[in-house]
Amino acid sequence: MTPLPSAPELSCFRSLMAQLLGLNIDALRSSSLDELLRRRASAHGGNCASYLERLAGGDIQAGELALLAQELTVTETYFFRNPAHYSALTDIALPERLAALSGRQHVHVLSAGCASGEEAYSIAIAVREHFPHSAHNITVTAIDFNPAMLEKAQLGRYSSWSLRDMAPGRQARWFSNEGSVFLLDQEVRQSVKFERHNLAADEPGFWWGSRFDIVFCRNVLMYFTLEQAQAAMRRIAYALAPGGYLFMGHAETLRGLSNEFHLCHTHDTFYYQRKDPLAATEAESELAARPGRRWQELTVAGDTSWIETIRAASERIHSMAKAPLQGQAGKASPPSRPAPNLDHAMEYLHKERYDRVLEQIGILSEEHARDTDVLLLKAVSLCHSGASNEAEQACQELLGYDELNAGAHYVLALCRESAGDLQSAIDQDQMAAYLDPAFAMPRLHMGLLAHRKGDTLAAAAALRQALSLLQQEDPSRILLFGGGFKREALIALCRSQLDAMGARA
Ligand SMILES: C[S@@+](CC[C@H](N)C(=O)[O-])C[C@H]1O[C@@H](n2cnc3c(N)ncnc32)[C@H](O)[C@@H]1O
Repeated sequence: MTPLPSAPELSCFRSLMAQLLGLNIDALRSSSLDELLRRRASAHGGNCASYLERLAGGDIQAGELALLAQELTVTETYFFRNPAHYSALTDIALPERLAALSGRQHVHVLSAGCASGEEAYSIAIAVREHFPHSAHNITVTAIDFNPAMLEKAQLGRYSSWSLRDMAPGRQARWFSNEGSVFLLDQEVRQSVKFERHNLAADEPGFWWGSRFDIVFCRNVLMYFTLEQAQAAMRRIAYALAPGGYLFMGHAETLRGLSNEFHLCHTHDTFYYQRKDPLAATEAESELAARPGRRWQELTVAGDTSWIETIRAASERIHSMAKAPLQGQAGKASPPSRPAPNLDHAMEYLHKERYDRVLEQIGILSEEHARDTDVLLLKAVSLCHSGASNEAEQACQELLGYDELNAGAHYVLALCRESAGDLQSAIDQDQMAAYLDPAFAMPRLHMGLLAHRKGDTLAAAAALRQALSLLQQEDPSRILLFGGGFKREALIALCRSQLDAMGARA
């Protein structure tokens, strides 16, 4: 019997799966991975080392990768998953892309990581329901790397579980019953083209420039390594026409993956629109040409434990926020320029002397004053000094450089609240919370605003989330966004608000 793999063999298997399938399988239990590797090595009549060598060398890759994909991928899906996306598709994305057809005949939609086809077919159904006269002008292509899923998709036969979020009228219109099986309408089935492609591989024959108008890539990249998710997103961005739309899973964001999209927020959901590279703003071009500041370079005299905590936490925030922007496809790495020295400004922030923070920022060179981290610090300080119009301007300038900056959206929420525009404040908080699900302050703020608006249910939900996130929140973010409150005080605030509402913490 083939022996179980050694630790280095297991680690080699993990890197091969990241390299060849994009998958981050660190989350998988080692015992199931052990077994899988042993099983596959034994099926090839050798030991784990020789199997890994052949897999890396390429001679057994084609069939073997398909098999491994079937074992390792999550294929959960259902019809009309996240219905708000389909409303945005039919109310905004499709009408716009149909209107933009000039000379071209078709709007092309891609479902990337389509699993057993429910997503692609939902798009085809939505097209027929909303654009019956233009359906022949809209193509739907669906890709996945798992051959078993593609086979199932092509059959168009589903159980009631796949239809669990579909209104009965819609079910009756598009499916016929064969015992416990629901058979999809033949015209819808024939309208979707299924193809086998690997999102982790460069396939220039498939990903050619601007070929798609709309891409659904939902609940796929969340299982990828960061590098492979960035690479896949570069391929998708390249293949998406300027102005085209991208839909990701509701728990996924582009933050850290790509800077080539605008964030859209309608129908109570988020999605993205491909920027037009030719219309890149001056600010965006400038961002591409200079590095971001490193929070970890900040030092504050005489408080080393504090510095260390901030450094460690900031490093994590910074690597998540900045890394992808420096690795854009086709762009040369920006030249390194020294970051501004913010030591004194940070010292004053720590002491809640926002006037002095602004003074320190005021003496920076023009170039440093436009650094994204400096702009965030400036926006926070202005906001806490009561200058919310100026704070808002600093946020807008920062968002011109980095549209997916969760911190800027949060400070904008505070500014909107000061201007008495509670709804827009909540919208900005929602964007910040979506862009960074671990960010506690927008949840806390949303909870307080919802309470003011009398929406106790929403308030309690947001405050509970804030309470849980605050326990883990990075110290640097509490310092920057906590308005002078310490973690314990913010936690106590959440608890007292929940108590006052009669809601359980
Ligand atoms: C959780 S399903 C998502 C299905 C659908 N998009 C949805 O949101 O309901 C993820 C799918 O991504 C596919 N997938 C994973 N890695 C892939 C890769 N490297 N290339 C293509 N598809 C991949 C899996 O086979 C699986 O069917």
